[in-house]
Amino acid sequence: MPHARANVTFSQKDHALYHLTPEKDADYWEVEALYDLCFAPGREALSSYRLRDGIPPVAGLSHVARDAEGILGGAIRYWPVRIGLVEALLLGPVAVHPTRQGEGLGRALIEESLGRAAPEGWNRVMLVGDAPYYGRFGFVKLAGVKMPPPTNPERVLGRALSEGAWEGIRGEVRRWRD
Ligand SMILES: CC(C)(COP(=O)(O)OP(=O)(O)OC[C@H]1O[C@@H](n2cnc3c(N)ncnc32)[C@H](O)[C@@H]1OP(=O)(O)O)[C@@H](O)C(=O)NCCC(=O)NCCS
Repeated sequence: MPHARANVTFSQKDHALYHLTPEKDADYWEVEALYDLCFAPGREALSSYRLRDGIPPVAGLSHVARDAEGILGGAIRYWPVRIGLVEALLLGPVAVHPTRQGEGLGRALIEESLGRAAPEGWNRVMLVGDAPYYGRFGFVKLAGVKMPPPTNPERVLGRALSEGAWEGIRGEVRRWRD
């Protein structure tokens, strides 16, 4: 039951109390607007978006963080992907509003959502991102796992959600379904 857990709250140092909840259909366009604000123009031209086109984000894991007035402070989404016959979660995009960055909301979104992944049956998660940031969440470079070009292989990172879940997994990351 993806939506069964109680809402999680997160309090920033000098700012609002945030409620972290699974993303709902009604959140969709606001999350898109936040991503447009936080990422460079043309974000959807990135090759990782070809893995997402036409496939809905993973319900129950994708989250929004809203303050007590309902203002969106951050969001994280996940998509399902495949490497050969093996399933993985693709984490991202994750973004925090520029006026709310650096106070732990990104960490709260990542940790809360990842904490739900294993209980829902996911064994491994990957992303394309900055190793210095994601290293603090246990992500390491995935040698041998190839994202669609042009992706810098140094930015292809993964974390096992069950022991050894990335061991021996090599190959191209593909769409969940074609
Ligand atoms: C990345 C992002 C989601 C982090 O959210 P946040 O709420 O600011 O993150 P937190 O407060 O949990 O963590 C902040 C820490 O991460 C560090 N950090 C943020 N982005 C980083 C990056 N790209 N590389 C290395 N460190 C980074 C900050 O310097 C800060 O370090 P400190 O704890 O030592 O002070 C947010 O900065 C953001 O939306 N950025 C624009 C969109 C983006 O780049 N998303 C990630 C795509 S890979």
